[in-house]
Amino acid sequence: MEFIIMIKLFFINFGGYICLEANFSDTDRQPIPGYFQWHEDTVASEFLMCPNSCQQQITKGRTFAGNSVTTCCVEYSRPYWITSKSENLIGSLRLEPRGEQGFVIVPGVANDTLFNKILYQQGNLNVFPSSLCEFRNIVDINFSQNQIENIPDIACLHILDTLNLSFNRIERLDNATFRVLKYLRVFDLSDNKIQYIEPNTFNYRPGSLFEDFVVS
Ligand SMILES: *[C@@H]1O[C@H](CO)[C@@H](O)[C@H](O)[C@H]1NC(C)=O
Ligand SMILES: *[C@@H]1O[C@H](CO)[C@@H](O)[C@H](O)[C@H]1NC(C)=O
Ligand SMILES: *[C@@H]1O[C@H](CO)[C@@H](O)[C@H](O)[C@H]1NC(C)=O
Ligand SMILES: *[C@@H]1O[C@H](CO)[C@@H](O)[C@H](O)[C@H]1NC(C)=O
Ligand SMILES: *[C@@H]1O[C@H](CO)[C@@H](O)[C@H](O)[C@H]1NC(C)=O
Repeated sequence: MEFIIMIKLFFINFGGYICLEANFSDTDRQPIPGYFQWHEDTVASEFLMCPNSCQQQITKGRTFAGNSVTTCCVEYSRPYWITSKSENLIGSLRLEPRGEQGFVIVPGVANDTLFNKILYQQGNLNVFPSSLCEFRNIVDINFSQNQIENIPDIACLHILDTLNLSFNRIERLDNATFRVLKYLRVFDLSDNKIQYIEPNTFNYRPGSLFEDFVVS
């Protein structure tokens, strides 16, 4: 029997935030029409843009299904590199097979972008590439539809926002894995072989805004 659990979680917790690796000062950001930059003491990510409608609905005095600006932004905010139309904010890294069964990460044409994403869906990836930590500005990993069995320690990817590992062979989740990934917002683990989730894997995550967590 297969079932899907979708949990929407919003962790409010105070804790020390990790300093950013990426140098993303306010002067780098152009305002995005229709959005405001969403700062919340309890949310670590500094990159979230929330639609103006979240603020307008509330300040007009209308109830937004009884919700506050915060609950609205939890639902509808998106990171800057998604809402911005600018194309030189985020670069694409490629994985190329090299040697026995290893892979190397190759920067794309734009190799000095503030953020990076990496997509690999050829189906033959069975471990995370070991050089991932050399690219600490990765915000989006899409390794769905491969043969990955383990999630290694990826604490180096401080600002990781999206991790798509659907359709792999992951069997267990360790409680150390997600502790420091405070920016993680979307995590897709559907269609794996999860047998075991270690105690306290998800329940102490200071500053994290965990929007979508899909397991099946
Ligand atoms: C970060 O950006 C500021 C202003 O753009 C610059 O002065 C500073 O040298 C940068 N720091 C690093 C580590 O790149
Ligand atoms: C980045 O691109 C520049 C020019 O396009 C090139 O000279 C440099 O070697 C590249 N760096 C890496 C790490 O690929
Ligand atoms: C992850 O990738 C799969 C396709 O491989 C896609 O169907 C799914 O929607 C993605 N998950 C998220 C949260 O975007
Ligand atoms: C992963 O890639 C698939 C196929 O390109 C795409 O449908 C999906 O939206 C991606 N998911 C994420 C989270 O980027
Ligand atoms: C992580 O899981 C192990 C059992 O595998 C447990 O002993 C440990 O207390 C857990 N860590 C936390 C912080 O709960």
